[in-house]
Amino acid sequence: SPSYRVGSPPAPEFDKVQHRRPMLSLDNAFSFQEIQQFLDRARRFLKLPENIDIPLMAEPKIDGLSASLHYQKGHFVLGATRGDGQVGENVTANLKTVRDIPLILQEEDFPEDLEVRGEVYMPRLDFETLNQNRQKEGGSLFANPRNAAAGSLRQLDSSITAKRPLRFFAYSYDTDSPVQNQTQEDILKNLKRWGFSVAAPSRLCETLQEAFDYFQTLEALRPTLGHEIDGIVYKINDLALQRRLGTIGRVPRHSIAFKFAAEQAETTVEDIIIQVGRTGVLTPVACLKPVFVGGVMVSRATLHNEEEIQRKDIRVGDAVVIQRAGDVIPQVVQVLVSKRGFDTNPFLFPDVCPVCGHSVTKMKDQVAKKCSNIFGCDAQAVERLKHFVSRPAFDIEGLGEKHLETFYKEGWLKTPADIFALFDPKRPFSQQLRQLEGWGEQSASNLQKAIEKSQNIPFDRFIYALGIPQIGQVTARLLAKHYKNPEALWKASLEDLLTIEGIGPGMAQDLLAFLQDLDQQHIVKDLLSHIVIVPYQETQSQASPLSGKTVVFTGSLENLSRSEAKAQAERLGAKVSGSVSKKTDLVVAGAEAGSKLKMAQELGIKILNEQEWMALIDEKAS
Ligand code: IVH
Repeated sequence: SPSYRVGSPPAPEFDKVQHRRPMLSLDNAFSFQEIQQFLDRARRFLKLPENIDIPLMAEPKIDGLSASLHYQKGHFVLGATRGDGQVGENVTANLKTVRDIPLILQEEDFPEDLEVRGEVYMPRLDFETLNQNRQKEGGSLFANPRNAAAGSLRQLDSSITAKRPLRFFAYSYDTDSPVQNQTQEDILKNLKRWGFSVAAPSRLCETLQEAFDYFQTLEALRPTLGHEIDGIVYKINDLALQRRLGTIGRVPRHSIAFKFAAEQAETTVEDIIIQVGRTGVLTPVACLKPVFVGGVMVSRATLHNEEEIQRKDIRVGDAVVIQRAGDVIPQVVQVLVSKRGFDTNPFLFPDVCPVCGHSVTKMKDQVAKKCSNIFGCDAQAVERLKHFVSRPAFDIEGLGEKHLETFYKEGWLKTPADIFALFDPKRPFSQQLRQLEGWGEQSASNLQKAIEKSQNIPFDRFIYALGIPQIGQVTARLLAKHYKNPEALWKASLEDLLTIEGIGPGMAQDLLAFLQDLDQQHIVKDLLSHIVIVPYQETQSQASPLSGKTVVFTGSLENLSRSEAKAQAERLGAKVSGSVSKKTDLVVAGAEAGSKLKMAQELGIKILNEQEWMALIDEKAS
C-alpha cells in the first residue's frame, strides 16, 4: 500500500546525487529517412557492410521524466531524478511511494549492484481526476500529465507524493557486475522478471521495414493507451554493438527517438507582443485565443523573429493553425488567409526596445534584432538574474521569477553580486525583505540558506551562470575542463579557444567580447568576492592510463573505422591528433602505415598495432 511506504519526514531540500554514468538524452528523428541515415552512420562507424540489417528494439517513448533507481542485493536503496544529466536529486522517499517500483526484487538472479533507469509518468485519467480535484479545491492546475508527474515527484513531503497517482516504466539497467546480457531484448525480459513494469508493446525489428510497420501500429494505438507517448525509441538490440558505438556529446550513437507528428489546432491571434531576453534579443510572441492542443491549453506561440512574421505574414486578428509537440514551444504553422478580415494590417516590428526605448540593432548575417542597451535595459537585467539563479546555474531555490522582478523593481537587486548581499544587515532593505507581503519569516530564512549554500559553485556552473551569449551548459563544461579557474579563463586567447573541440569561431568571439568588456569584468569581480569556485569534476573520472595522452592513428585499421578508434581513445580520456610530434604519446599503426610511423620510430614514441590497441581497450573497458 502506498501509504505504508511513506518514510522520512520532509527535508528542507533534496540532496544532490552524482550519477555514476551520465543520464543522456536522445537524438530526434522526424522522418523515416532519418532512421535510415541513423543506421547508415552506425554501419559506417562499425565498419559493417552496407547491406547488412541491424536489428532494432522498438519501444514506446513514454512522456514523463526519467529516474534512476539503485538496488543493492535486490533492495531499493537510492532513487534520483535526471537533473542536468550529471547530477540529479535524491528523491528516494518519493519513489518508494510509486507502486510500480519494487522495493525488493523478485527472482534471485539479479546482479548484486543494479541501477535501473526508466520513466516516471502519470496515467491520463488519473491526471484528469487530479486536476478536477484541484480545481474544486481552488488550487492551480497542471498543464499536462508530464508536468503533474514532475511536480509530484519533486515534493519535499513524500506523503504528498504518495497521494499522487505516479507510475513507472523501466527501460534499461546497468551494473558493475560482469555483464551477462547480450541484447536490449534480454534487458526488458529481465526487468519484467524482477518485478518492473515495462511499456508495451515493444517489438524486436529485424529490418527497417519492420521498424516502419511498428511505427504505424503504435501510432494507431496511441489514442487508446492509458498514458501519453511522444514517439518511439529505436535501440540497436545488440549490446556489444551499443558499447562500441558509445556516445557523441550528450547522446548515444546506438539509439534514436522517432517523434510523432505534432498535433495541430486552429485559433485566432489576439495580440503580438515583444519579449526582451537576457542577451537583448527581441522575440515576438503571439497571444492566442486559448485552444486545446496536444493535451494542453495553449494561449501563446513563439513567432521567432521579424523575418518569420513577414514570411508568414502573421497579423493581429488572423485565424491561424498552431502546432505543439512534446516539450517544444507552440508554433504558428500557417495563416488561414481566406478567413482574414479587411481590417487587418501587416505587423510592424519595433525599431526600439519596447522595455527601455533604446534603439535596436541587427547583427550582420543574423535575423534577430537586439536591444544594445546591455546594462541600462531592465528586461535584460532581470532576465540575466533569472538565468543566474536557475537550476543549472546557481540553483537558488526560493528566488522565483516574481520575487526577482519585485526585488529588482524595489532596487534591492541589480547584479548577481547583490544576491549575496540581500540579507546583509548593513543594507537598509534587509529587514523590509523579511516583511514582504505573501511570504513569512520562514521563506526569508529558507532563501537566505539557499543563497548561502549556492556560494560554493563548481566552475562549469559558474561559467554557465554568467549568461554569455552562445555559452550553454555543454560549452561551459568544456571551458571549465580546459581552463580550470577564472584567472586562466580570463586570459584565454582566440587561438587557444579554437583548440577546444566543440568551440567554434562564433562562440569564441562572443566569449572574448564578454571577457574583455570592462563593465562585465567589474560585475564578475564583484561576484567573485562573494563566492568560492569549486574545481570542475568529471563524472567518469576513473583514472585511465590514456587520460590526457595524445594518440595518433595511422595506416588502415582492419576491424575498426577511424571514427570508432577515435571514439575509443576519447572515451578513455585521450586526445586524438592527426600528426606525430614530440607531444605524441602513442601511435597506433595499421597496415601500410608510412611517414607517421617512421616519424614515431625516430622520435622513440610507443607504437601499438591494431591487436595490441584492442587488447588495451578491452582491458580498460572491462
Ligand atoms: S532510452 C540515452 N527508452 O526519453 C537515453 N528513453 O529523449 C536513453 N524515454 O531521457 C533513454 N521512454 O527519459 C529510453 N523506452 C525509452 C524511453 C525513454 C521515454 C525518455 C527518457 C530520456 C528521453 C530522451
